[in-house]
Amino acid sequence: MTSWSDRLRREGHLISFVPTMGFLHEGHLSLMKEGKRLGDKLVISIFVNPTQFGPGEDFDTYPSDLEKDFKLARDIGVDVIFTPNKADFYPQGFDTFINQEKLPNHLCGLARAGHFQGVMTIVTKLFNVVNPDIAVFGEKDFQQLAIIRRMVKDLNFNIRIIGHPTVRESDGLAMSSRNSKLTPDQRITALSLISSLKKAQNSLKNKENSATALIGNAVEFICSHPDTEIDYIKICDPDTLDDVAEIDRPVVMAMAVKVGTTRLIDNVILNPDQS
Ligand code: PAJ
Repeated sequence: MTSWSDRLRREGHLISFVPTMGFLHEGHLSLMKEGKRLGDKLVISIFVNPTQFGPGEDFDTYPSDLEKDFKLARDIGVDVIFTPNKADFYPQGFDTFINQEKLPNHLCGLARAGHFQGVMTIVTKLFNVVNPDIAVFGEKDFQQLAIIRRMVKDLNFNIRIIGHPTVRESDGLAMSSRNSKLTPDQRITALSLISSLKKAQNSLKNKENSATALIGNAVEFICSHPDTEIDYIKICDPDTLDDVAEIDRPVVMAMAVKVGTTRLIDNVILNPDQS
């Protein structure tokens, strides 16, 4: 992988990179199209990274269909599909991890101890091996994107990080590999995430600027659906992820909700100037 990148860069190409855990959907494909637009060679990786899954999480049942992924990636015109194997990437005695002090202590990081340490470690390894000029990440994983941006700045990676908007099903559900685990009833319930976020945007338009009120309404709405368990609903600063009490500038409203046993996340920007 690295010698391919070195050679292509010497030849003057600009290399884009989209890391994934596979089971590709339109969200991933949209990141890839953006990567192709910004660079002239595109690498994707497919690797279900064990270090970002905690005990009891869905590492063992994470969905996979490599054959379909290869076809989708080829159709987009991906130049390299990098699929490291676990034993090469985490050899016996592996003992080095990347950490961050503040951003992981918010949102998903609180319920998923060690998750972002695993994400930062694998992304660093992938960056070192793939050696791209540009890397594209989805805004759907808002905290992940914020953490990667911070890491790249702090550790002097010479890589341009691009955030890409969330791609949704026609009814608004944010695309996710995990949606495949939802039963038809749960699939309907899962819409309560985006519906509650849209309700918050509407309330803000009607001059409801209190985060407590908007979060309270979202909690009530989601809890009125069967089979839901809220992990968090937060309104926070897009850079620091600290809670915001009064919405007087663009902020993020983010949530994680378990529908049955499937943990879903979603977020939108709340912008008082656009309301
Ligand atoms: P994965 O969940 O496969 O997502 C790969 C990339 O696709 C991430 O940047 C994610 O934010 C983006 N993505 C997922 N669903 C999206 C959607 N509906 N719209 C737009 N972008 C979407 O995120 C990971 O894998 C891993 O943590 C990884 C970064 C690969 C490290 O293991």
